[in-house]
Amino acid sequence: MPSSKAEMALGLSQEGRLGLTTALGIVPGVIHTPGYLDRAAQEVLRDALREIVRAAPLFQPRMPRTGKAFSVRMTNCGELGWVSDETGYRYQATHPETGAQWPPMPVQLLAAWSALAPGAPPPQACLVNFYGDGAKMGLHQDRDEEDFSAPVVSLSLGDSCLFRVGGVERGAPTRSLRLHSGDAIVLGGPARLAFHGVDRVYPGSSTLLAGGGRINLTLRRVTRETSVR
Ligand code: SIN
Ligand code: MN
Repeated sequence: MPSSKAEMALGLSQEGRLGLTTALGIVPGVIHTPGYLDRAAQEVLRDALREIVRAAPLFQPRMPRTGKAFSVRMTNCGELGWVSDETGYRYQATHPETGAQWPPMPVQLLAAWSALAPGAPPPQACLVNFYGDGAKMGLHQDRDEEDFSAPVVSLSLGDSCLFRVGGVERGAPTRSLRLHSGDAIVLGGPARLAFHGVDRVYPGSSTLLAGGGRINLTLRRVTRETSVR
């Protein structure tokens, strides 16, 4: 249900596929699918993530240059993982602390990619962000990939958050919406490089994660597809 008159006016809690920014004239190409994963599918994914975190423990990323810690903790699955430290943002094949390869992507994520990014080459990285108390993420673009033709597919689990998305320029107007457990967001086409971030998480808004908090998964294609002869 819309939780405020303003949200109702913007249609923020509308069910079904919504081309968010098309509706507001900001940036077409942002697709929000509320409730993409039902509760049973969320539980299966949560359990798969528990195994992933066992194999590839959450680490605390740091800002390039300053070394300031992010408020979210992260891990990855897939052939590549996104990491950040004093030397910069990058994708690498191994965990920055254990040196081990990232665990493979669970089939549920591959299936979500096929459904939400039809026709795109297979995803190579899934960044797992864990938001505990007070964690948030500033407005940024996902632009460390070699190629931007495939979309970024995002799935949310656990506590709801206030997500903000804008245009491809930092100063462009932004729109805020709540993402709930099971929601999918796709940033593709003209919104592939849209600025986005998480302003806050609402503690206690979901019962999915026993210890509370929010998990966001972003699936990405990192390298250009090479043809196999
Ligand atoms: C991200 O941009 O990496 C995360 C977005 C989110 O947590 O919804
Ligand atoms: Mn991002």
